[in-house]
Amino acid sequence: MTASARTPARPATAASAAVLNDGLAVSIRDLKKAYVLAGGTVHALRGVSFDVPTGDFVSIMGPSGSGKSTLLNLLGCLDRPTGGEFYLGPDNVAQMSDDELADVRASRLGFVFQSFNLLPALTVLENIELPLHYSGRLGRDSRQRCEELADKVGLGDRLDHRPMQLSGGQQQRVAIARSLVNDPWFLLADEPTGNLDTATTREILDLLTGLNEEGRTIILVTHEPEVADLTKRTVVLRDGLVVYDGHPDGSRAALDASRRKDGPNGAR
Ligand SMILES: Nc1ncnc2c1ncn2[C@@H]1O[C@H](COP(=O)(O)OP(=O)(O)O)[C@@H](O)[C@H]1O
Ligand SMILES: [Mg+2]
Repeated sequence: MTASARTPARPATAASAAVLNDGLAVSIRDLKKAYVLAGGTVHALRGVSFDVPTGDFVSIMGPSGSGKSTLLNLLGCLDRPTGGEFYLGPDNVAQMSDDELADVRASRLGFVFQSFNLLPALTVLENIELPLHYSGRLGRDSRQRCEELADKVGLGDRLDHRPMQLSGGQQQRVAIARSLVNDPWFLLADEPTGNLDTATTREILDLLTGLNEEGRTIILVTHEPEVADLTKRTVVLRDGLVVYDGHPDGSRAALDASRRKDGPNGAR
């Protein structure tokens, strides 16, 4: 694999997913992101490197301003790095055109947000179906696939409900079903339980854990150690650099050290 061989975005089929970059869903090397502002340049990511093997379950942690959202935006192909390499499967995302990035986003990635981001005018079934419109994959068997996904997240009897008629936990279940509809290469979740109470958080985490046990690769941002503890691996960022990458158990010390360095008020 060479960095110069730009491969056009291809549909994510089970076969193509199986031959991802030697079993890596994501590979980033010395990834940098600088925002140029009138008052100066903000170096949000200053050289981040890690691999995410297919089937991994990674939590990204770090104090406010450490670069978590910036990293998630890059991994989600919502933005382009200003330096370094980012391989998504076999493709170097840093070299893709805007059209290719949009195609990757629509067809290969699944997104779950803190605020669910469902369309209020659409039913559960239509919300789940939505990514198929964007990726141009709406077909004869779409309805059945969406019903199966609704079943999978425990909402098989709520297909015609609108988001307003559902609890927060149920809305997040719809969002998770929606994120799976294109059979993505991995799921990206930004504080997926941030708006949920403790019991509902547990249910959503059980759902995500179950998906991971089925082989789904998941990368999530969280500031809750209890959430990170349920993942297989934690990456801690500080000031745009990785300061810890390993078992969630060991991340506390790195996070505490970050807070101490930030002074008596903790995270900035
Ligand atoms: N669009 C942007 N323009 C300028 N600076 C930004 C932008 N987004 C983030 N930053 C800066 O980059 C740094 C990292 O921010 P962010 O990735 O949002 O961190 P986190 O999600 O960990 O709180 C911060 O200093 C932030 O102010
Ligand atoms: Mg953030």
